[in-house]
Amino acid sequence: MMAPEHDPASSSHARVARGRLLITAGPTYEPIDAVRFIGNRSSGRLGVALAEHAASARGGREWETTLLLGPTPVAPTDSRVRTLRFRTTAELGSLLDEHFPSCDVLVMAAAVADYRPIAPASGEQKIRRTDQKLVLELEPTPDLLAACGRKKRPDQFVVGFALEPRERLISSATSKLERKNLDLVVANPLETMDSETIEATVMSRGGGEHRTAGAITKDAFAPWLLDQITAARHG
Ligand code: CTP
Repeated sequence: MMAPEHDPASSSHARVARGRLLITAGPTYEPIDAVRFIGNRSSGRLGVALAEHAASARGGREWETTLLLGPTPVAPTDSRVRTLRFRTTAELGSLLDEHFPSCDVLVMAAAVADYRPIAPASGEQKIRRTDQKLVLELEPTPDLLAACGRKKRPDQFVVGFALEPRERLISSATSKLERKNLDLVVANPLETMDSETIEATVMSRGGGEHRTAGAITKDAFAPWLLDQITAARHG
């Protein structure tokens, strides 16, 4: 599941690119057995919109864009977005090990599992129904974003997301910014995950805070966030 779907058609755009942008999007599926998994409702739409906008931004100064995309039917149609697929947190972790060192900006929009089943039934095995209750044992997954935050060089810029209940949106996002050593955090209320629109507040390390004008579409959010990233990187 990790084969490239698209490669940038030409290298000419790399010469004029704003930089190398690495985006993660979509859910993770953590196997329980050969046919079942634990997933989440992330569609990946926001990350895909961001990748397509970044790769095609007008004026000939587009980003060289790589999208690490989870199991979702939503996918970029623009062949300038290089798309690589993952299913599990471990697969996404391997892709990040490979691609994070060569990016200028990482936008971690993937809805990564916090827990996964310990030792899922292996091979072709499927858990059979019995009359007994079944207890699934879960273990915490590694925090991939925090690992990138720890590893990042001074020239790299890392953006994380915080999906939180409205009442503690800003305080939780601020603590994620510090704890994961991020440059920018995008705080969204919980309802955003399954929605057509997004209402976001971004907070940067320097203390800057910017808000979208209410709820906007995920397509409109893409250029807005890219502008916020550019301003925070150079501001
Ligand atoms: N994330 C990650 N690896 C994980 C879990 C989350 O890289 N194992 C990233 C997400 O892609 C997102 C950010 O961390 O950019 C915040 O994810 P979230 O689930 O909101 O926060 P957690 O760090 O899991 O903290 P908590 O569940 O306590 O809110």
